[in-house]
Amino acid sequence: MPLTPDSELDLLFPASLISSELKAQLHPDLHIRPLASTDYRRGHLHVLSVLTIVTDPGEAAWVHQYHAMRSAPSTYYTVVIINRSTDMIVGVGSVFIERKFLRGLGSVGHIEDIAVDKDQQGKKLGLRIIQALTYISENYGCYKTILNCNDSNIPFYEKCGFKKKENEMAKYAPERQNSPLRL
Ligand SMILES: CC(C)(COP(=O)(O)OP(=O)(O)OC[C@H]1O[C@@H](n2cnc3c(N)ncnc32)[C@H](O)[C@@H]1OP(=O)(O)O)[C@@H](O)C(=O)NCCC(=O)NCCS
Repeated sequence: MPLTPDSELDLLFPASLISSELKAQLHPDLHIRPLASTDYRRGHLHVLSVLTIVTDPGEAAWVHQYHAMRSAPSTYYTVVIINRSTDMIVGVGSVFIERKFLRGLGSVGHIEDIAVDKDQQGKKLGLRIIQALTYISENYGCYKTILNCNDSNIPFYEKCGFKKKENEMAKYAPERQNSPLRL
C-alpha cells in the first residue's frame, strides 16, 4: 500500500512543526510526519516493541489515548518515520513539553520512547527522529531537552549532541488490583 498523504490523515500536531531541512535529509523512500489517528494499523506498537514489552490495548483504546493526547494543547509531540512503499511505520519518538514556574515560566522538552525497526537500525533514522524532536522542543521555546537512557545508548545520544548530566531515580508503583483513579 503506497504512502497515505498527510492531507488525508488526522495528525497529532501540524506537520509544519517538523523541520523541512530535516525532511529533505531523509532517504527518498521514507517520510517523517506527526503520529496519525490511524497509525495503530501502521505498526506503531510493533515498532515500539524493540524498546520494551508492549501490551496491545486494542485499537479502540489506542485511538482513545491518541485523542486524549491531542486534546492537551502544545504538550504531546510524537513523530513517525514511514516507509513510503508499504505505508508502515519504521521509526518513532516523542517529546512532551513540561511547563514550569521556574526559569521565568520556562519549559523543558522530555524525549521519550525512541524506537527504530530492527531492519532499519544503523541508517540514521534514530538520529533524524532525535533531531526532529529537539527542533520541536527548541522551537517551542524549551530552554533544555532531556531524556533517560541505559548505558549502552549513551554513545548514540552523544552522536545526537546530548551530554550526560546527573542521575535518574525511579520508584515503580506496586501492582494494583483496581484501575487507577484518573483525575
Ligand atoms: C537506539 C536507536 C534508537 C538508534 O537508532 P538508529 O537509527 O539505529 O541509529 P542511527 O543510525 O541514527 O545512529 C546515529 C549514530 O549513532 C551511532 N549509534 C547508534 N546506536 C549506537 C549504540 N548503541 N552504540 C554506539 N553508537 C551507536 C551510529 O553508529 C551512528 O553513528 P555515526 O553517525 O558515526 O555513523 C535504535 O538502535 C533502537 O531503536 N534501539 C532499540 C530501542 C532503544 O534502545 N531505544 C532507545 C531508548 S533510550
